[in-house]
Amino acid sequence: MKKILLAIAAFLMLSAGLGAQEVLCTRNTGIVLDATPGRVPKIDYYGVRPEEADLASLRSPWSNSAEAYPTHNASSENLEALAVRMPDGNLSADLRVVSVHREGWDGGEILTISCRDPKYPLEVDIKYKSYYGQDVIGTWTEIRWNGTRKSKVVLTRFDSGCLPIRRGDVWVSSFGGSWAGEMSLFCQPLGPGVRTVFNKDGIRNSQTSHAEVMISLDGKPQELSGRVIGAALCYPGNFELRFETGDSRYESVHRFYAGIDPSNSNYSLAAGETFVTPELVYSWSDEGLSGVSRNFHSWGRKYRLAHGGKVNDILLNSWEGVYFDINEEGMHRMMKDIADMGGELFVMDDGWFGGKYPRKDDHSSLGDWVVDRNKLPGGVGGLVEEARRDGIKFGIWIEPEMANTKSELYEAHPDWIINAPGRDIVQGRGGTQVVLDLSNPAVQDYVFGVFDGIMTANPDIAYIKWDANMSVPSQGSQYLGNQEHLYIEYHRGLAKVLDRIRAKYPDVAIQACASGGGRVNWGILPWFDEFWTSDNTDALQRVYIQWGTSYFFPAEAMAAHIGASPNHTTGREIPLKFRIDVAMSARLGMELQPSAMTQEERDKCRKAIGEYKEIRDIVQLGDLYRIVSPYDGKGLATMLYASPTKDRAVYFWYRTEYFHANTVPAARMAGLDPSRNYRVRELDREGRPLSFEGKLFSGRFLMENGLDIPSANTAPGPHRDFASHVLYLQAE
Ligand code: DGJ
Repeated sequence: MKKILLAIAAFLMLSAGLGAQEVLCTRNTGIVLDATPGRVPKIDYYGVRPEEADLASLRSPWSNSAEAYPTHNASSENLEALAVRMPDGNLSADLRVVSVHREGWDGGEILTISCRDPKYPLEVDIKYKSYYGQDVIGTWTEIRWNGTRKSKVVLTRFDSGCLPIRRGDVWVSSFGGSWAGEMSLFCQPLGPGVRTVFNKDGIRNSQTSHAEVMISLDGKPQELSGRVIGAALCYPGNFELRFETGDSRYESVHRFYAGIDPSNSNYSLAAGETFVTPELVYSWSDEGLSGVSRNFHSWGRKYRLAHGGKVNDILLNSWEGVYFDINEEGMHRMMKDIADMGGELFVMDDGWFGGKYPRKDDHSSLGDWVVDRNKLPGGVGGLVEEARRDGIKFGIWIEPEMANTKSELYEAHPDWIINAPGRDIVQGRGGTQVVLDLSNPAVQDYVFGVFDGIMTANPDIAYIKWDANMSVPSQGSQYLGNQEHLYIEYHRGLAKVLDRIRAKYPDVAIQACASGGGRVNWGILPWFDEFWTSDNTDALQRVYIQWGTSYFFPAEAMAAHIGASPNHTTGREIPLKFRIDVAMSARLGMELQPSAMTQEERDKCRKAIGEYKEIRDIVQLGDLYRIVSPYDGKGLATMLYASPTKDRAVYFWYRTEYFHANTVPAARMAGLDPSRNYRVRELDREGRPLSFEGKLFSGRFLMENGLDIPSANTAPGPHRDFASHVLYLQAE
């Protein structure tokens, strides 16, 4: 009956020349689709929320409409979002709308456009999900093969979605880098051809290119103005994002495609099986790049981060303080030191474990998660107890997805590692590291057991740093029959393990670390509270790394630690004030040996930690306005976090480059209430007070004129370089 009614409706609409329009809106945005039964589904529009009158006019054929989920078929010369190999070898697919379904959920609505190939039993549901209050729209597909028993269709491309973007002066901001240089920003105008952003690491899928892009629609990207679409593929494994621009001037749109990278990953879909692609989320804002960032931050805090919306602890991590040189006395001293400076958590990093092969360096022991009693006679329990006595929490480092070939685990289970039959083992870090094959259920049980074992023995552990320091070498699985499924099954296995962990340990805080910032992706973060942003703790380079990271990820989750000087990665000497001020702009922590600090430095850190506690909720949970970009060549980076009611704000000002006698722009702010007055107080102050210290200014003045900050560092000491200021604004 339903089918007959749909057919009649389709006939009436088609004879009137109209398609079946579907609209999904958020508070300020909307997407309009043509979902006429029997036709190819199309996206007619995405952007500012359309009014009734616009909707009446926004109907196919519309100049900028394009296929919602393009397939490889005869009628299209474009790239495809879906490509298949049918059991008879046919490489084409043809998706036609069969029906439309809408359902509400707590945060908005889900629209399903069900399609089918008229000639083959291939069905695809194209999903759109609105996150109403955050101005975010998610999309993914569910691909089903309804063929006869034992038949299979092979998916050779299976993107999550495709979005047409009207041509014009469109620019793309993407992110990339390498170990200790993650999240560098690259901005380019879109021109003819195909531009691809991809990652094939298998595990550390944000160490180099990231699965997020900003698309500026009004020319060169601006932080505070212009229309911008942000897109993030929520997937922890290999991905590919593509921008396609046809040569022809008749092409009115660029096409953006995003999905799992299909290289070496053709997926054989069995009869009755459904393949669900990962969610691709979009957000649109006419308040520039920062506007889209704010949407992603509030969406991530509400729907994606574990314990999102709760402030995270100030911690000391042992890595750069002692590296592998763990011992009980040293850990006790570090715990006392961070407690004394006002910190709340101590994390013991790598080097605490190993039985037959004690972990002295990175050549051995991964897999043997037993405490090394020579280093820690009182065990982990003794340290947890000592932390309790110091009035702080205790956390511990693990790397459970990996092993060393020099380990008891590898000796017992050489078949558990990723290694193609007959091939030499590819060994990573330290020359002996290997990856466990999480497609294997026995390995899944083992990895869960690592976490569970530590937590069962020490239920008061409050924090786990979960590291992963190797790529999946493209070698193959000793468990799977179909080698092409390894990358996908690895992440399915990992998701199962993490689900089990979260079901049993919902409250423990977990940090995602992967050689630094290798796991900064919305596909993995739902199980994690925060991420280690980079192994690079050089505060100057961190200004850039944290700037890029803030495009899609909130400060609540962005671990930023005060490192030593000279910095261990860059060798650069940076004054403590600058190091503190940069770390204060995200989730503050420390990554050094406190006993190597002077009493004066410790006192300074204690004071800064106290001040950070005053502003932590604004930084971690507030609205971010990036103002002057370090990439703009002004030798300056500035930004402001405002509380949701705009009654408090924190402004960060960093001099990234100093030349004598040059000037810097006035310190103009953004995101304040123009009609309120704010009293300005400098935090982490050194030297003479600034001319405006303690004074009252209107929000309008602060935003339209700004304050004058000296261009050089005026703090006592040799450095004119590395000036920085943190201003706390309180409305009166
Ligand atoms: C890589 C991480 O990024 C570091 O912070 C540290 O945990 C080391 N691994 C330990 O091996």
